[in-house]
Amino acid sequence: MSERRTQRSGRTPTIAADEQLVSLPVRARPAVSVVVPTYNEADNIEVVLDRLRSHLDSHQYRDGYEIVVVDDNSPDETWRLAQHVAEHDHRISVVRRASDRGLASAVLTGLSVASGSVMVVMDADLQHDPAVVPRLVAPVLEGGHQVCVASRTSGGGSFGRFTRSRRLISFTGNSVARLLLGTHCTDPMSGFFAISRGYYETVAPSVNPRGFKILLEFLARGKNPNVTEVGYRFGERLSGETKLNGSVVLNYLVALISLSIGRVLPATFVMYLAVGLIGLAVRAAVEQLGTALSTSAWASPIVLIAVEAGLVVNYLLHNRITFEPFRHRGVHMIRGLISFHVVSLHGLLVHAGVMALLSSAAPSADTELLATTFSPPFLLAGALATIGNYHINAGTTWQT
Ligand code: GDD
Ligand code: MN
Repeated sequence: MSERRTQRSGRTPTIAADEQLVSLPVRARPAVSVVVPTYNEADNIEVVLDRLRSHLDSHQYRDGYEIVVVDDNSPDETWRLAQHVAEHDHRISVVRRASDRGLASAVLTGLSVASGSVMVVMDADLQHDPAVVPRLVAPVLEGGHQVCVASRTSGGGSFGRFTRSRRLISFTGNSVARLLLGTHCTDPMSGFFAISRGYYETVAPSVNPRGFKILLEFLARGKNPNVTEVGYRFGERLSGETKLNGSVVLNYLVALISLSIGRVLPATFVMYLAVGLIGLAVRAAVEQLGTALSTSAWASPIVLIAVEAGLVVNYLLHNRITFEPFRHRGVHMIRGLISFHVVSLHGLLVHAGVMALLSSAAPSADTELLATTFSPPFLLAGALATIGNYHINAGTTWQT
């Protein structure tokens, strides 16, 4: 992208013979960069760019502004329309990503190529009113704030025509985030905010690009940022539909775990444990049901059925939640399921092996303790087997 910019301004970067970039062209840093992530926004992008430019133009920033559209190769060719606008306006650049997907990672890509002193992130469907942008920029550009959030829950803000279920998701997400992370921001799920270059540069390396919640990451990874808010009304989508779905919400929960306790335990491992517990519950329930319904002759097949039910539920949940970014689809699900079984069997052997080792080492008085379920040695062996299984599943079953 910087190449195209260079061609336009007639300056060429110096490239050494070994093709290493030795010096970059000098270009002035604009006052404001607006990063606009898009996916299938063909009906909206031109209107959004027009309105955004007219609001930024009327403000006349001394060092000007730039707009960076980041499109994930939308099937409706949003990128092509944006490129067309950019051909007539050098302040607009378009990043068309071929292999990466996802809102937060698109925003990070946009921020990494943007060069403004203040960087704004804004949706491309007019739910974020471009008229609010100058009000977001001012506290960061002139007021010394590190982050300014366009908030639906503070002074004059509202959710507009948010459906009841979306309000509930937003309310819950907000409360959990504030509780776990202790942020003072009233709307940490907002996708509309301004951030100072200095703060961005400090925090960006530790930001997790998963899911939708980019602001939350920026707020939680920094040390007590100086945050302010501007109320705004969350508008109606001009055209098209939201990309927020169940898996986005689940990923949000994973992100929260990772942000709150992730420094001690990796979030995927916490999810792995949580899913493992669900599997154990399923297995116990099936076993209970089976024994209640049947005569004693049935007992052993029921145990096997219960174990298998637990395994399958575990596998499906790990595939959808724990290892979602690497998930198997279609026929590949079967290969994954087989691999998951092999790893579980391996875990069972590790467990038995560790127990045998402990019992051979333990004084005879303690062997009774060893035999009881959920004794400390049993749990220790279980923990070792679980940690081992986690790593092997991550490496082989899902190839993370
Ligand atoms: N590049 C890229 N890649 N852009 C994406 C992707 C993606 O995978 N998914 C969504 N977008 C773009 C959309 O094109 C739109 O411009 C913007 O990101 C927001 O997506 P929507 O699908 O319209 O999200 P929403 O309106 O449901 O959610 C908004 O409100 C939430 C709070 O309730 C967003 O602003 C969220 O960030 C915000 O948390
Ligand atoms: Mn939207």
